[in-house]
Amino acid sequence: MLVTNKELLDAAKKGKYAVGAFNINNMEFIQAIAEAAGELNSPVILAVSEGAIKYAGFENLVSMVRIAAERENARFSLHLDHGKDMDVIERCIENGFTSVMIDGSPLPFEENIAVTREVVKKAASHGVSVEGELGKLAGVEDNVSVSEQDAKFTDPDEAVQFVERTGVDSLAVAVGTSHGAYKFKSEPRLGMDRLSEIASKVSIPLVLHGASGVNREHVEIANSFGAGIGDARGVPDDAIKEAVRRGISKVNIDTDMRIAFTAFIRKKFSEDPKGFDPRKYLGAGRDAIIGVVKAKIRLFGSENKVR
Ligand code: G3H
Ligand code: 13P
Ligand code: ZN
Repeated sequence: MLVTNKELLDAAKKGKYAVGAFNINNMEFIQAIAEAAGELNSPVILAVSEGAIKYAGFENLVSMVRIAAERENARFSLHLDHGKDMDVIERCIENGFTSVMIDGSPLPFEENIAVTREVVKKAASHGVSVEGELGKLAGVEDNVSVSEQDAKFTDPDEAVQFVERTGVDSLAVAVGTSHGAYKFKSEPRLGMDRLSEIASKVSIPLVLHGASGVNREHVEIANSFGAGIGDARGVPDDAIKEAVRRGISKVNIDTDMRIAFTAFIRKKFSEDPKGFDPRKYLGAGRDAIIGVVKAKIRLFGSENKVR
């Protein structure tokens, strides 16, 4: 059954683990994430971006997620990731999503508060949770690009004000991660002290975006079968563990699944050049995602946290 992010994340905060939010764009990703979560008795958040809705269709995603949740009898939340378009946000609130993110992070502080408050008000009457974001991640998102120079880490005192004045259920913070596969030019470093300070001042669950590890082995498999993924670098597992210890309750993963899916589909094409049955190569990609999601669930500590 679908539950809200608030329910999952309040429990995670209390239990000192994090719940993974995994982005979905198609059936194979939904099946893989559901299977991994079901096998490990882990809560998961299925995250849908505005781009995913455009690609796969709103009803297709909602109904596939509902069916997967019923089948696994696990605790899944259906969450809008990086909501920016008010029409899309309203559609999600009114049609089966249990959580939405309003990403007002590119806006000036007061404007971010104003749009976030508006979403909290709309969501409240439907029992839908709201995630806000304060501070800017470096890197490139689908419809907003924030250069690394503009990256602005979350200010702990602003975070207190933001949470009080908006009434959000969880807060995404910027502490040095970014979206995609090219997160760091040299050694990865996160603002751990800043994270601890925010966690000590803010009582709601905190969210880490841009948290993929960029598995070197998967990058090498992809590259050895024709990909050209350059000097990719992600957030090391130890840093994720430390971030969870310091108060992160939701960890967002997309890139790691994309790379694994691509690597193993490329491998399949290369090993079976005569094949053209999509079930064979998409199946290989789906199996790879199951492995990624299981590893993340163990890393975040959410295994056996369904009841
Ligand atoms: O943070 C963004 C997610 O990775 C989704 O990416 O907007 O390309 O679907 P997308
Ligand atoms: P990655 O690109 O590091 O997987 O981050 C995904 C994310 O933050 C989705 O909101
Ligand atoms: Zn994100």
